[in-house]
Amino acid sequence: ANNGYDLWLQYKKTENNNLLSHYKSTVKSIVVFGTSKTIEISARELKKGLSGMLGQTIPKTSNIESDNVIVISSLSNLEKNFLPLIENDFVNLPDEGFLIKSVKYRNKNLTLIISKNDIGVLYGSFAFLRLLQTNQRIDNLNIKDAPRLKHRLLNHWDNPDRTVERGYAGFSIWNWHKLPEYIDQRYIDYARANASVGINGTVLTNVNANALILTPEYLEKVEALANVFRPYGIKVYLTARFSAPIQIGKLETADPLDEKVQQWWKNKAKEIYERIPDFGGFLVKANSEGQPGPQNYRRNHVDGANMLADAVAPYGGIVMWRAFVYSEHDPTDRAKQAYSEFVPYDGQFRNNVMVQVKNGAIDFQPREPFHPMFGAMPHTPLTMEFQITQEYLGFSTHLVYLPKLYEEVLQADTYAQGKGSTVAKVIDGSLHNNSLTGMAGVSNIGNDINWTGHHFAQANWYGYGRLAWNPYLSAEKIAEEWIRCTFSNSEEFVDTIKRMMIKSRETVVNYMTPYGLHHIMGTGHHYGPAPWVSNLPRPEWNPVYYHKADGYGIGFNRTKSGSNATSQYFPEVEKMYDKAKTTPEKDLLWFHHLPWDYKLKNELTLWEGIAMKYQQGVNEVYEMLTTWEKMKKYIDNERYNDVKMSLEIQLKEAKWWRDACLLYFQQFSEMPLPDGVHAPN
Ligand code: GCU
Repeated sequence: ANNGYDLWLQYKKTENNNLLSHYKSTVKSIVVFGTSKTIEISARELKKGLSGMLGQTIPKTSNIESDNVIVISSLSNLEKNFLPLIENDFVNLPDEGFLIKSVKYRNKNLTLIISKNDIGVLYGSFAFLRLLQTNQRIDNLNIKDAPRLKHRLLNHWDNPDRTVERGYAGFSIWNWHKLPEYIDQRYIDYARANASVGINGTVLTNVNANALILTPEYLEKVEALANVFRPYGIKVYLTARFSAPIQIGKLETADPLDEKVQQWWKNKAKEIYERIPDFGGFLVKANSEGQPGPQNYRRNHVDGANMLADAVAPYGGIVMWRAFVYSEHDPTDRAKQAYSEFVPYDGQFRNNVMVQVKNGAIDFQPREPFHPMFGAMPHTPLTMEFQITQEYLGFSTHLVYLPKLYEEVLQADTYAQGKGSTVAKVIDGSLHNNSLTGMAGVSNIGNDINWTGHHFAQANWYGYGRLAWNPYLSAEKIAEEWIRCTFSNSEEFVDTIKRMMIKSRETVVNYMTPYGLHHIMGTGHHYGPAPWVSNLPRPEWNPVYYHKADGYGIGFNRTKSGSNATSQYFPEVEKMYDKAKTTPEKDLLWFHHLPWDYKLKNELTLWEGIAMKYQQGVNEVYEMLTTWEKMKKYIDNERYNDVKMSLEIQLKEAKWWRDACLLYFQQFSEMPLPDGVHAPN
């Protein structure tokens, strides 16, 4: 049995005998230079991983003259004799980067894992272990790697009472009640898992959290967590509720231009940094969905963000100011609001402020075109916010491999500086030459035994981390790594499951929101279909606002003749989206309101096309289920059964989506279902 707790760090004995003997002859022992906790953790991880995968204990040795050893060290601690072997490799290597190199020294074979700072040794150790986990050879290595982004963060939407907003894997893993004294083993395992993919920061609290977390009673607990995470290279961040000076500071206002307010935040920052010298900074949701913010005082986002930025600047902290804003006062098109509110402020934020932008302009839908803010603020570092937890994609019940979604957004071309100005280049700072870079992923972690509720949701945590490290990695390569590390290296299994995962994202789009439909999920909880809801007090809370189905057709006209959201894109993209014929069909109804008999590229009418997509989604889930059943022999019973039960629910619910949406939309289309689409009953 395997309950999934060990995630992608299973370290099972290598099954391929040729490889096993190759590993055994290349790795006999480990030599460690340096004594920091991070180095100790690296050595322990190597010992654990190698011993597991080689099926025999790999000891530490201090004898640098032995043959076939792994040497781990930071550059500064390295035995002087080794230096000439690698010195040239270190020109231009960033701080967290590492080198893995096979060398000969006095006729002995060594594998060096060397970094500039200790944390790079830990990253390098995990990278080396991954080579064995994925059944690659480990001779003649010469690997140099470093993260492309500086801040690679998880955002926990965890509340102090341990509920998790949009969390579907149990309760929060932060046990505030028992902190600071009681250090749950989970905290250590959490840090280890994150470090293994290069995540280096965590926001502990919900963007909607109250100010309590900033009181001394809680800061003491936060400090305890920071101490656990530090040797794993992970910094702690907190959400800062804008009204905190009133709620916990007894001030009468939270006006960012009020000197008392400014001083309050400065004192608060000082208090935090005295406890946690490497505290990362603040994440802020202001003037969005009822959260307080500078606009309550007729100030703007710049006033608010810069005030907090000044408070943390003396200590090297940053502020991540979220761009997820929309208000009931501008009901024409919610998709336009963040851009309208933020782009005019480009260049006015302090240099330790990042504006955090969701991947799309609405809200973490199964598919959204990339957010038009990317590329539009050349003088402001923008950080990408992805959602790892599946708020609109079947919670932790549906199998959906999200790196495919992330990749689509990162590879999208903004045309900000002509062709090839991808979102990835905006994010990594290369397009506009800025060095403050980052990515945030809304965590899917809870206290379920397997961390994420669904075993395959672990792949979304893993894949998010890998893409935050390098946004140019392919989703397919990441899936393959994950499968090999988590389940098996059997080629048949790897190929089959990889294909299933890669397809799973399009499948969920097919049975939930094909052709650019969006936000037609059940209101509030966002689980299951509810395109008919129309009675909520704010127009943009109602699904009918997004699909606009009527006797003529369906879709949201965001072109010049409609809300003109297309004008927020650079001209090449605007031109493409402004006409139905040039809009990729996957985004069609996001931008256009089209007649039911509109001709699709495959000659079907729009109505037929929609119906076929819903059916295709159902068929594909059925295929996932049968594929999984065929792979039974490669999988332990516990994980096999868990996933099978979830797939059965997913199949039932894909049908629910198909039946509900088609039955509802058919009232408007008044057209028959095409052959092959099962009639809803
Ligand atoms: C979505 C989500 C909320 C969340 C919000 C945010 O609207 O449903 O629960 O608070 O996003 O990102 O702030």
